[in-house]
Amino acid sequence: MRNESISIGVGSRVARLPLSRLNRHMLITGATGSGKTVSLIGMVERLAQAGVPVFLPDVKGDLAAIGGVPCRRLEPFRMSADLLDPATVSAALGLSATQAATLEIVWSVGMRLGSFKSLDDVRSVARTLESNASLAADLGRVSPVSLSVILRALLAFERSGGRALFGEPFDVARLVDLAADGRGLVNVFPAAALISSPSLYALALLYVLDEMTTRFPECGDLDRPRVAVVIDEAHLLFEESTPETVRAIVRKVRLLRSKGVALIFASQSPGDLPTELLAQLANRVQHRLGAASAADLRAVKIAAETLPPNGSDLVATIKGLAIGCALVSFVDPAGVPSVPIVVQMPPPSAVATSEAVPLIDPATPATGDTVAGRHDFAAGLVIIGGALALLAKIVAWSIG
Ligand SMILES: Nc1ncnc2c1ncn2[C@@H]1O[C@H](COP(=O)(O)OP(=O)(O)OP(=O)(O)O)[C@@H](O)[C@H]1O
Ligand SMILES: [Mg+2]
Repeated sequence: MRNESISIGVGSRVARLPLSRLNRHMLITGATGSGKTVSLIGMVERLAQAGVPVFLPDVKGDLAAIGGVPCRRLEPFRMSADLLDPATVSAALGLSATQAATLEIVWSVGMRLGSFKSLDDVRSVARTLESNASLAADLGRVSPVSLSVILRALLAFERSGGRALFGEPFDVARLVDLAADGRGLVNVFPAAALISSPSLYALALLYVLDEMTTRFPECGDLDRPRVAVVIDEAHLLFEESTPETVRAIVRKVRLLRSKGVALIFASQSPGDLPTELLAQLANRVQHRLGAASAADLRAVKIAAETLPPNGSDLVATIKGLAIGCALVSFVDPAGVPSVPIVVQMPPPSAVATSEAVPLIDPATPATGDTVAGRHDFAAGLVIIGGALALLAKIVAWSIG
């Protein structure tokens, strides 16, 4: 193992982040305005320079300041129904257990029918089952009430921006692409439109994590991660999720560790994330947290308690951090989280002007509009063909 590391911090105190241990994942936390985004941008740039590609959903539109590293905008970014786990979709749609069981049947019918990609594809299967009670009864746990809830949820989902997210899928294997000079490519996913709908944001991220879990081979600890995935506003993943979803996410986070994927979560307070997840995020960057209310103080205490001790009062340290300063603890080459130290993160100006304009690679667009266009046409045909053809297929399948 090569034990390469990147240095974090400016001035006399610098912390070393071994790339081979980045698969123990990372959490960047701090109050609003404390410097998380600036730290995140600095981190992403150093990773790309060191040859680690990054997937960077930009939910607030404030990550455009990335400089000096090759960037690629993933627009449009699409996912496909047949690659999604129906349980993930149920969680994103906020379905109950009964409704989720019905959605699972919609999915299995859709998958057997072949072209099952867009929201229209999902809806036509659900509609066909809804209008054919006897067929639905034959298939088992299909509840008509659930079907209408699902159809309503799909409509709301589509109206909040979901339609544009479905179609010919983005290939996650391309997220490991390197630039010609060996630097990691930063794949920026402009996700500002998703922020108003946490479920859309969660679904898009979970899709990427699901796909990485199934597509990337097991590789143990690599010299450096295959790819780093940034999950900003991480609390959005958990806002509306059930205990099962939380368990599923934690399981994925654990699996991705041995698939060479490094996850970098950013949120205001460590208390925003489930404790089982916190235990998986061993690299930590803690910016200032205020303690104006009892809830704030609890958050500071959680932050302090989930860091290794350093002999000083971590609660006082976290409350007293200046803007741009952070208490950091990284996993050392032996796999042990280091004693936390306070470092000064590089200021935004140094970050943004480190090199010329980001290199965009027009020869390899991240997704193909023409392909997506063809698919929309195909989806249109399925609808025009109407429920009849679909019904015939479902009947044939359920009999056969
Ligand atoms: N390392 C730094 N050195 C100097 N100034 C900094 C540094 N980090 C942040 N700042 C200043 O603080 C401002 C806010 O920082 P930043 O946007 O990173 O906060 P944040 O924690 O991401 O806030 P929010 O939760 O609202 O997104 C920056 O615009 C910059 O002026
Ligand atoms: Mg920010």
